[in-house]
Amino acid sequence: MPEDSPTWKPSTIAVTAGRPGREPDAPLNTPLVMASTYVAGGELEYGRYANPTWAALEEALGALEGGRCLTFGSGLAAVATVFDLVGQGAKVVAPRHAYHGSVMQLADLESRGRLQATLVDVTDTDAVVKACDDAALVWLESPTNPALEVADIETITQAAHAAGAYVAVDNTFATPLLQKPLELGVDLVVHSGTKWLAGHSDAVIGAVVTGDDELYDVLKGRRDLVGAIPGTMEAWLTLRGLRTLHLRVERAQTNAQELVRRLEAHPAVSEVRYPGFGGILAIVLAEGAIAADLLTHKTRLWVHATSLGGVESTFERRRRWKTESATIPEGLVRMSVGIEDVDDLWDDLQRALDDLT
Ligand SMILES: Cc1ncc(COP(=O)(O)O)c(C=O)c1O
Repeated sequence: MPEDSPTWKPSTIAVTAGRPGREPDAPLNTPLVMASTYVAGGELEYGRYANPTWAALEEALGALEGGRCLTFGSGLAAVATVFDLVGQGAKVVAPRHAYHGSVMQLADLESRGRLQATLVDVTDTDAVVKACDDAALVWLESPTNPALEVADIETITQAAHAAGAYVAVDNTFATPLLQKPLELGVDLVVHSGTKWLAGHSDAVIGAVVTGDDELYDVLKGRRDLVGAIPGTMEAWLTLRGLRTLHLRVERAQTNAQELVRRLEAHPAVSEVRYPGFGGILAIVLAEGAIAADLLTHKTRLWVHATSLGGVESTFERRRRWKTESATIPEGLVRMSVGIEDVDDLWDDLQRALDDLT
């Protein structure tokens, strides 16, 4: 991004950041640089340390979040690298309803004596603040996947910092367009770029963004050493996806808000969970797991699939995964709203829901 453009808005940054310099015959887009090694004597050296295509994506996502970005081979590779920042036996506070892969990583690390995990209800700010005592890392996810709970990031961050802990926020659901955790004081932002950032259900990738140069260096050192690097093609696809992030998120959010209104009035639905922003919502079916499974098999437009944040609308019953938290209702269906026509989405859903009543 040109250095004299600090006041550009997020949608302009999404379109412009991470482009090659404006020289005659330069391509507008950063090319896909497929290289395992580089001619010695420069800064890149080797394909596990650096790649110009990752660097372009890192520049763009860093500019959107307001910090320095490192990309990883997946969201969970980014999560693991952040968990690895804490010392042996340290206390890590995390939401009990965080993404099940993150909770599973904590359980695995705890079972091997690597750290001590304290799981909390992130909506109970007083309880989270109390849990910050003696913590080395407070891990937040807001909204949570799939419970869609929202944390008071600012208050919790102040308490965590007073206790000497780092704070990391998994910003996958909100995206930097709807929530900028570094501006709220947190130390690290984590993304499953697989979701909204890439946005087309065709790449698995992760990222960490930080405003702290020392943390950046430690994370970069870990990435170099363990090789948790993204594929070049995945980085290129994610940067390509990022160019339309604002349009996709805006449309998905408008669709989601309308669907929430209509779903709340449907008799087959006992509860609609929606934090008020973003494109992810969840419904709980009055008739439980069987009705939820039936619903996910009765639609023609909505696709029964895990993951989220793509242009196409997808949904799934989360408890079909044995590793999902037992406190998530059996009949909860997480819905990732896409950018299709909202009336088509509703007609498809309504027909399937009507069949259940
Ligand atoms: C909130 C959240 N964080 C992290 C992850 C893990 O990301 P990945 O699947 O890219 O490893 C996911 C995946 O669903 C997620 O939803």
